[in-house]
Amino acid sequence: EKGGHDYFMLKEIEEQPQAVADTLLGHFADGKIVLDEQRLSEQDLRDVDKVFVVACGSAYHSGLLAKYAIEHWTRLPVEVELASEFRYRDPVLDRSTLVVAISQSGETADTLEAVRHAKDQKARVLAVCNTNGSQIPREADAVLYTRAGPEIGVASTKAFLAQVTANYLVGLALAQARGTKYPDEVAHEFSDLESMPALVQRVLETAPAVRAIARDLAQSSTVLFLGRHVGYPVALEGALKLKELAYMHAEGFAAGELKHGPIALIEDGLPVIVVMPSPKGRAMLHSKLLSNIREIQARGARTIVIAEEGDDTVRPFADDLIEIPAAPTLLQPLLSTVPLQIFAAEIAQARGYDVDKPRNLAKSVTVE
Ligand code: M6R
Repeated sequence: EKGGHDYFMLKEIEEQPQAVADTLLGHFADGKIVLDEQRLSEQDLRDVDKVFVVACGSAYHSGLLAKYAIEHWTRLPVEVELASEFRYRDPVLDRSTLVVAISQSGETADTLEAVRHAKDQKARVLAVCNTNGSQIPREADAVLYTRAGPEIGVASTKAFLAQVTANYLVGLALAQARGTKYPDEVAHEFSDLESMPALVQRVLETAPAVRAIARDLAQSSTVLFLGRHVGYPVALEGALKLKELAYMHAEGFAAGELKHGPIALIEDGLPVIVVMPSPKGRAMLHSKLLSNIREIQARGARTIVIAEEGDDTVRPFADDLIEIPAAPTLLQPLLSTVPLQIFAAEIAQARGYDVDKPRNLAKSVTVE
């Protein structure tokens, strides 16, 4: 049942190409993005003038990524908030606000209460969920199911990639309803998404190299993660995986914040994982990150760099280099997250911990 692995999580990491492919399946028909359940009219979708994304943990990180895509494609303002914070605030919502609630289980207490809080104020709710028949989609006005299949490992892997995929479909559905993208542009973005499972499969081939780095760093006391733009939520996700699985101190930073404090943490041998953007897609971002790596390496950090294949500019600054295939900027997180999952799982195993059932954690947090 674990597909020859010691842990479900390792099997679930390998199922990610399928999870992404299945999530796309059936969501583009007759030239249009389609949701699974839509109790909202097309006019309601067109009338949306603001989006709030609410979620917890890894689902929240997928929501941070949604912001880049939805704003870019729809020109709607998007706020992303932890469900546990949103529900105790007095957010400004009305019937033209769309609240996107993301949850693998569909039962997370804070996310469910955030949905209720939103509905009390007449906002529309769209759920992105992996579990049919769970509470959050039942209370939502529209649903897009991630089709990652059951996820047994407490650490979210394939559900996370499926959430990122589904969130992008939500962005395209809104762009289509608002007319901010032409039908052929929506079709083009969708076909880019369809090319991702094969690329995720190729990233899985980096596993032996990632595991070797992980074993080497298994006794570190801290690992830092750096990224910019869509690489920033990936850095946060990589750090969360390491905390929950390896019980290791880990922190994700926006690389631009380095000089505002975190660079003081850098000392000899400190491992820093850097998520590089594509040199072609975002040349400016790329050169900024390159100078960040140079700075931390000069201060003694051990740099582990995730970069696009053929990006030779990073080589001089990477103590370890993990190469991933080229992909459109917004879709790169579907690739760059994968080595970070493998990294955390391997360190946890090297330290002798139960990868599927980390201490103190439950798969679904149904109490607040
Ligand atoms: O079921 P949900 O997606 O609502 O769960 C949210 C978080 O509890 C979950 O993503 C958690 O952070 C994972 N264990 C992270 O790997």
